[in-house]
Amino acid sequence: MLYTLSDDLIDKIKENNDIVEVISDYIELNRAGANYKACCPFHKEKTPSFMVSPTKQIYHCFGCGEGGDVISFISKYLNVDFVEAAKILADRAGIELEKKDENNEIKIRNEVLFQINREAAIFFYKNLRNNPKAVAYLRNRGIDYETIKNFGLGFALDNWDDLKRYLVKKGYEEKLIYKAGLIVERNNKNGYYNRFRNRVIFPIKNNRNKIIGFGGRVIDDTLPKYLNSPDTPIFNKRYNLYGINNVIKYSEDEKVFLAEGYMDVITLFNHGIKNAVASLGTAFTEYQAKLLKKYRRDVYICYDSDEAGQNAVNSAFEILNRYDIKAKVVIFDRAKDPDEYLRKYGINMFNELVRNSLGFIDYKIHYYKKKYDLQTTSGKIDFTKEITKLLSNIKSSVEKDVYIKKISQETGISPEAINRDSSGFLYSSKDKYIKRHYRYTNKDKISPVKTILKSGYMTAENSLLNLIITDKTVFDKINDEFKPKDFLDKIDIKIAEKIYDIYEKRSYIDLADLKEICNDKELNKLEVILDLDIKISYDSKEKAVKDYMSVIKRQSLKLQNDKIKNQINEIEIKKDKSVDDIKKLKLLLQQLIKIKEKIRLHDKFH
Ligand code: GTP
Ligand code: MN
Repeated sequence: MLYTLSDDLIDKIKENNDIVEVISDYIELNRAGANYKACCPFHKEKTPSFMVSPTKQIYHCFGCGEGGDVISFISKYLNVDFVEAAKILADRAGIELEKKDENNEIKIRNEVLFQINREAAIFFYKNLRNNPKAVAYLRNRGIDYETIKNFGLGFALDNWDDLKRYLVKKGYEEKLIYKAGLIVERNNKNGYYNRFRNRVIFPIKNNRNKIIGFGGRVIDDTLPKYLNSPDTPIFNKRYNLYGINNVIKYSEDEKVFLAEGYMDVITLFNHGIKNAVASLGTAFTEYQAKLLKKYRRDVYICYDSDEAGQNAVNSAFEILNRYDIKAKVVIFDRAKDPDEYLRKYGINMFNELVRNSLGFIDYKIHYYKKKYDLQTTSGKIDFTKEITKLLSNIKSSVEKDVYIKKISQETGISPEAINRDSSGFLYSSKDKYIKRHYRYTNKDKISPVKTILKSGYMTAENSLLNLIITDKTVFDKINDEFKPKDFLDKIDIKIAEKIYDIYEKRSYIDLADLKEICNDKELNKLEVILDLDIKISYDSKEKAVKDYMSVIKRQSLKLQNDKIKNQINEIEIKKDKSVDDIKKLKLLLQQLIKIKEKIRLHDKFH
């Protein structure tokens, strides 16, 4: 059988088949930190080196090098070709595949569905004009005629079949009206009735300005408040955004406002902010991010101020970040949502909020400040822990410094303690500063939990390399402060250089690739590294990584110390010391003092 597999369809199949769930259908997976582990189904092994990453939605075997996405897993595991594998997964998720020869028919059918929606929208729109109750409802919410017209708002009368009869009379088959989601099948399967009754209607348009579905709101306190079209061949809530048609129409703006509700988008429009979108009653999805990315605007997140809204901000932010979309959050402290805020305080104050909108880290600071009580010690510690976790991801040290100062001001915890917890090590030029503030710093030191025993530095190097190879996020975290040359063992340096190189180009290490570029010595060492079975939980991984780096750094300081001592000894045993010798000795002694101080500080802080 021939199927057309468009990129969109493949994306949809992957999106709806979580790799962990799918692989669990076939083999038993065990949690290992952020990932899942098992014995590889593609080669014989006793200790598990087959990893599945839920965040990246990929699998990879560090033993045999096999790896890929959910479709390639099925293809390989069930020994079927790519298209068959995609079909199996489409079936699993209830996604319809389009057969090639039906392609044209489907297009024509979809065109009819668009037409049906258009007719329905006109029908609802006319109803609204003749229905004072519905008009009054919208007027009460401050919506003017211009806005009603732009959004094509309408009204569904309290009637079981007026729309159905209207559309049938226009020549549309009941079956297709049903496919468009406008009518619902009766329980006894004996005919259909209107889905939307006694509701204000919000037609939902796609980015080609075609009506793909509807939302309907009650005009009293009846539940459910909203009813939406079900997913249909032309409507998927996760792929579309309410208001996206306006983003295209009013393309001169450089901002786009992302809200939670239909009414927010509408009220924003009513106040002249025409670039506003909302997801369709689900959490913000990656597809919606992709859709927004096309229009290259900065996104201003305008979610509700309640807890659910603020949690949703976090996940929307993460998704937008992932797609490199610049985003900020507008905080509505004195209203529950943008709609209420605008109606209470007007556009000027709203614009003021927009000017004060927060970037990701600032938002997090705001968020955690509310969550934790900064008057208490434990509140301060929890707050600082949350923020320092974030700071460790910031690449720019200037930016990081600004935040550290800010947090220090909020909490009274010293900048040094915050910095150490967020990245580790302060040395050289700042040493004096640390010393002077040491007592204060130490008082506020944030619970240092030793997750590993400080064993020899070789074990630390091997373990650190193992973690870097198996988890790119470890690399991302340490890349700025820990370079290949910071390893002490020469072969480790060589291996690290290769790993760092690969990560610059791709997001995981293909062991086969890595092995190919290693010489014999490096290969032997790599075996040792990969054989390590490091048992740490996801939460303590960051701490373990810091501890490994600390052990290596400590050893490096010791080596420097020993080297200088040797040089000093060499001069001291000379009977006749030249003027140059004396000069050199002085210099070496100074260096020795510095190194000793560094070692002392290192030992105090780690
Ligand atoms: P108003 O209460 O009229 O201000 O609506 P709103 O648009 O501000 O909605 P709200 O913030 O309560 O919810 C955000 C969005 O979630 C809505 O626009 C809908 O898309 C969706 N939603 C809310 N309530 C329901 C519901 O009862 N059922 C469904 N299916 N979706 C809902
Ligand atoms: Mn609302």
